[in-house]
Amino acid sequence: MLAIPDSDKVLYDIDGCKDLAALESLRVALLGKSGSITKILQQAGALSPEERKKISQTANNLKNTVSDAIAKRRVILKDEEISDRLMLESVDITLPELQQKFGQLHPLTKVFQEVTDIFTAQGFAVASGQDLEREYFNFTALNMPESHPARQMHDTFYIKDDKRIVGASDEKLGKYLLRTHTSPVQIHSMLRWGAPLRVLVPGRTFRCDYDATHSPMFHQAEVLVLDKGISFAHLKGCITDFCRKFFEISTLPMRIRPGYFPFTEPSAEIDIPYHIKDKRIVIGQSKTEENKWLEIAGCGMVHPEVLRHGKIDAEQYQGFAMGWGLDRLAILKYGAPDIRGFFEADVDWIERYGFSAFA
Ligand code: DAH
Repeated sequence: MLAIPDSDKVLYDIDGCKDLAALESLRVALLGKSGSITKILQQAGALSPEERKKISQTANNLKNTVSDAIAKRRVILKDEEISDRLMLESVDITLPELQQKFGQLHPLTKVFQEVTDIFTAQGFAVASGQDLEREYFNFTALNMPESHPARQMHDTFYIKDDKRIVGASDEKLGKYLLRTHTSPVQIHSMLRWGAPLRVLVPGRTFRCDYDATHSPMFHQAEVLVLDKGISFAHLKGCITDFCRKFFEISTLPMRIRPGYFPFTEPSAEIDIPYHIKDKRIVIGQSKTEENKWLEIAGCGMVHPEVLRHGKIDAEQYQGFAMGWGLDRLAILKYGAPDIRGFFEADVDWIERYGFSAFA
């Protein structure tokens, strides 16, 4: 006689399965290829016809009941598993915040933004030019012909195999070099937009220089204004206005002293007073510390020769130009004493002198 498992006991076991894996094991033990119910059905074939009918019927009923019970239990266990996972993955809003560090804005980025804000508010357009410049725009068109001694003060990095550069075929424009100042963009702007014109050119510049106030890569902002009836008084007003806004000191003393640049006539240099206190640079004059001046810009009335290269009618239009040293503006305003720290990518330095991007 074949022993048919007790149906109540089997259903009780199915209900007792705590997870899907246990339920699957039980299913295999009952209904799998060599499961107890499967075996009974197989072995029933050897019985007498009467017994076979009886046993097969009972075993088949049990098989159906067990299959249904397992399917129902599986649905319940799956639901439980999902809600368990949801419980585990929920956000605990009572946990303390992560001590996440945010990046800082470099003082130069800040200065770029501030200078641009001041000039664009006065109707200046912003241009950038390119770091890789031609000799013609960097020197010749700015009234520094080939033999001009001022070229030596702008020693820079020439590009050796310039034939491979796209557009290098126009030999009249001379060698490629890393621009030594932003002034070549004066010529590009004149050729592109003509007069009247108000343009600001913040950008990277390069020279063979390296000490506490000079770095081989530095930053300038060129200012060019062309219009009818422009005089030195406009230039002076523009400088004073900019410095007071930038340094946020309405009575800031300044020195505008005569200078020489081949591309302006007359030319001047602009100095700002400072002193050192607690190893930091402080703007303005002190009664107790040694007072010094830092040159922050060159400027002047645009030379007629430069206007000619820019295809501007010098009989009708005059203009003034300036070139600000952005790194020096940053040194003065934000007190980082050595320009070399600006480009060393030192995280401690940026934490000391940098700014929150959200401020
Ligand atoms: N390009 C000059 C330099 O790098 C700075 C300068 C001086 C720019 C006078 C000007 C200017 O536009 O008018 O030293």
